[in-house]
Amino acid sequence: MANIKITASLLCADALNIENDVRQLEAAGVDMLHIDIMDGNFVPNLGISLGTVKALGVRTSLPLECHLMMYHPENYIDTLAEAGAASITVHCEAVPHLQRVLSQIRGAGMRAGVALNPSTPISALDYILDDIEQVTLMSVNPGFYGQKFIPAVMGKIEDTRRYLDVCGYSDIDILIDGNVSFENIPSLVEAGATMLVGGSYSAFRKGCSIVEAVGKMRELCKA
Ligand code: DX5
Ligand code: ZN
Repeated sequence: MANIKITASLLCADALNIENDVRQLEAAGVDMLHIDIMDGNFVPNLGISLGTVKALGVRTSLPLECHLMMYHPENYIDTLAEAGAASITVHCEAVPHLQRVLSQIRGAGMRAGVALNPSTPISALDYILDDIEQVTLMSVNPGFYGQKFIPAVMGKIEDTRRYLDVCGYSDIDILIDGNVSFENIPSLVEAGATMLVGGSYSAFRKGCSIVEAVGKMRELCKA
């Protein structure tokens, strides 16, 4: 069983006490922080501010795994690199010159990822497998936390794992983003996910401390 990486979505954190949640995530042993940045255009929301990213870059050693739900993400690559981002994932639906943007991300010294909305076919990956370390499969429509997992995406995970294996790119991570929950983690891992976004139904689950919730996620990844 692959070692499943957990990245916690700060969009789900307590916005007025985000440092408190970051310290709990550090104590819980998450692998990285998932940073949702939006332009209010590609998706109708704004997400984590660049100011918060810069503060995180100096105040935590957790890698910053940035998810850019925006048009023209190329405008922020250098800023995020300077802020200490470890990786940038862009949406293939929002970026006409995708290969160029992925090269720019790598050129700035970061891991490159591409995100596919629930309805976007896997064939969008056909000519950029050499340019990425990660595929993010959106299991909700991007822009908001607390939504429900779209059932068709479970099969898409299996299809993506098979596609990557057949193409000889098994080392590319599959990150699942959206309503990752205690209830579905075993199936997500079984289907071929290697990275999970801990959100409002897992790492930030009501009724659990963050340390308990992340511990539960780890257990379920092994189930
Ligand atoms: C949605 C974001 C997700 C979201 C995850 O647009 O990309 O990262 O914050 O939160 P949950 O797990 O509650 O869907
Ligand atoms: Zn996200």
